[in-house]
Amino acid sequence: MLLWAARNPWLGQRVPRLRFVRRAVRRFMPGERLTDALDAAEALRARGLGSVFTFLGENVTDLAAARRVVDHYHEVLDQVAERRLETEISVKLTHFGLDIDLDVAFENLDGLAEHAARLGNSVWIDMEGSAYTEDTIALFERSRARHENVGLCLQAYLRRTPTDVERLLSLHPAIRLVKGAYDEPAAIAHRARRDVDAAFVDLGTQLLRAMRDGHVARFIAGTHDVALVKRLAAAAEGLGLERRAVEVQMLYGIRPAEQRRLVAEGFDVRALIAYGEAWYSWYLRRLAERPANVLFALRQLLP
Ligand code: FDA
Repeated sequence: MLLWAARNPWLGQRVPRLRFVRRAVRRFMPGERLTDALDAAEALRARGLGSVFTFLGENVTDLAAARRVVDHYHEVLDQVAERRLETEISVKLTHFGLDIDLDVAFENLDGLAEHAARLGNSVWIDMEGSAYTEDTIALFERSRARHENVGLCLQAYLRRTPTDVERLLSLHPAIRLVKGAYDEPAAIAHRARRDVDAAFVDLGTQLLRAMRDGHVARFIAGTHDVALVKRLAAAAEGLGLERRAVEVQMLYGIRPAEQRRLVAEGFDVRALIAYGEAWYSWYLRRLAERPANVLFALRQLLP
């Protein structure tokens, strides 16, 4: 129901106006403005954590809107450099115009990767619903051929992902592996939690083995599932790599104590900070991941 609601435009216009929802969202978002994200990144850095910024939104319907999003990300790169933060950016290609014009989406990404490279920074590409998987991978391939500082998110729940990993290895990619957040049919995706977890470990091990053999530049476990991080860190050691070959990314505000504990254990950890006004669909996907969060949101109704 939550994933259905995340796609419903009628609800999308009304729910964000509810005060109790706005209060609940603050748990996962330092604020709607870039300065809120920059301040949060600075506070995280003081505790040894890096960060990744994502400006919320997706599926823009005209190219002028996509241009405004890209311009905003250029500004982010400059401000991050100015404040000397350890902050990368993570973007959605439908936010860059993928639904309208594939080549424009590519040029938007390309310009950003070039700017980031000049500043010694990196750009990550989020993976959206399965309708976009093929185009997203294809644009990543085009971009990676020109820039080393572009990374791609892959979803462990998709049955195609082991083949996609094989396909990408010749590019020496940086990969962020996540479980997957969309409501995909069983024909193309594992749906049982146990199967998704097993696929995550298998794919992580496949990527670490490729890293040992020099075919993967960076491997990120994008998960709050610390048990899986530990299993992959053990797999890394078994392959003769250091445990910290597994970089960890979690969402801002989720399991912050675990984030700090992993830093203390020597892992490179980044918190993904989402900000901006378009938080509705994104927030509902976070609720769907953990229905207990719905109770938290409802509790905000209380005085
Ligand atoms: P799982 O859902 O099994 O949770 C493990 C434990 O973590 C839970 O038991 C719970 O305690 C805690 N937890 C997890 N989610 C929580 C929440 N929302 N609130 C509170 N506690 C929670 N997906 C996608 O399809 N495309 C993408 O590009 C990305 N990008 C991305 C980047 C990063 C850095 C992260 C961390 C995640 C993504 N995701 C994503 C989302 C991902 O696919 C997945 O839906 C979530 O990470 C939840 O799954 P976990 O791996 O955390 O495991």
